[in-house]
Amino acid sequence: MAEPTQQVHYIQPAVLQQFVHRILTGNGVSDEHAKVITQCLVQADLRGVDTHGSNRIPSYMKRIRQKVLNPSATPQLQQVTPAAAIVDAQNGFGFVAAHMGMQKAIEMAQVFGIGLVSVKHSNHFGMSAWLVQQAIDAGMMSLVFTNSSPALPVWGGKSKLMGVSPIACGAPAGKERPFILDMAPSVAARGKIYKALRRGEKIPTEWALDAEGNMTDDPAKAIEGVMLPMGGPKGSALAIMMDVFSGVFSGSAFAGNVTGPYDPSKAADVGHFLVAIKPDLFMGLDDFKSRMDYLYQRVVGSDKMAGVERVYYPGEIEQITHEKRLVEGIPFTEAEIKGLNEEAELAGVKKLNYV
Ligand SMILES: NC(=O)c1ccc[n+]([C@@H]2O[C@H](COP(=O)([O-])OP(=O)(O)OC[C@H]3O[C@@H](n4cnc5c(N)ncnc54)[C@H](O)[C@@H]3O)[C@@H](O)[C@H]2O)c1
Repeated sequence: MAEPTQQVHYIQPAVLQQFVHRILTGNGVSDEHAKVITQCLVQADLRGVDTHGSNRIPSYMKRIRQKVLNPSATPQLQQVTPAAAIVDAQNGFGFVAAHMGMQKAIEMAQVFGIGLVSVKHSNHFGMSAWLVQQAIDAGMMSLVFTNSSPALPVWGGKSKLMGVSPIACGAPAGKERPFILDMAPSVAARGKIYKALRRGEKIPTEWALDAEGNMTDDPAKAIEGVMLPMGGPKGSALAIMMDVFSGVFSGSAFAGNVTGPYDPSKAADVGHFLVAIKPDLFMGLDDFKSRMDYLYQRVVGSDKMAGVERVYYPGEIEQITHEKRLVEGIPFTEAEIKGLNEEAELAGVKKLNYV
């Protein structure tokens, strides 16, 4: 893809964190919930998942103003069995309900080896990897599924039915990097099209079709059309799998009925499915970790195909970006900062300063 045509400014993570927190609390989110949401968004920015970071603030705040997302909702947790619980997000932020759900899953896994949490009546929770990281920080393996609004045709279909719903999972390691897989079942996440639109860039033609079913490199036309599933029927099946576990199972919307982020008529009603697993269920923890380290070394030490300089482990590129951006700051284009500052103005809070 072409490099951004606009000038880029680097914002320090702590500055961005305070700014995002201000906007959230200025829109009726409690300090406690704003801390969770801010951490998730800035973590996405740090990991280079720019499509699912602070730039999403305007779309979330718009839903609050449209009264289809409740900024002050308190998620309700109900224990179902000793190892299973359900969270009713009460149409609050997906970040808050999913954070609570993963915390509960971890606590159950610490006692029973596995903890399973279903989340219903929720909203978009951004980058799935932050939940995988939450589990890794507690020393846990995890599965993180969500459904989302229609963007993708099922294999053989021509109109949007399934969401570009990411499948994510992870496992801690010893001295090497943890395993973090976080992928949308489309050729590219829809957020990458919105990012290209914001930045005035073109997109690769294999990402999406326009409304007439033609390949396009124009992000505006792609948004009117459909995303393409990765691997044909396999990507389509993974999107359906996310809907079975997150939508059907939880009692949330499913089968094309999750409300899109730009439809102000009703709540999104997203569902999530979160599992935490104790990695030392079947062997000692040291054994598990050294086997994970060995796997990492085998993967990155693989013989390289022609033209490849370095083989990366899933999640590794994002972790390297995270380390780099912690030092250098997070790049934002002028248009992106302008969009965020418009939100600061609407919320009546201090704008983001940049040079
Ligand atoms: N909440 C939602 O509804 C929603 C919907 C869609 C996407 N998303 C988020 O969008 C983000 C982007 O998704 P995506 O599918 O575009 O991700 P991606 O294609 O950038 O990466 C997918 C996976 O492949 C790995 N990977 C990428 N390049 C690699 C390489 N060269 N070597 C080894 N591994 C590599 C990454 O580490 C990652 O685990 C994710 O964080 C996802 O959670 C969220």
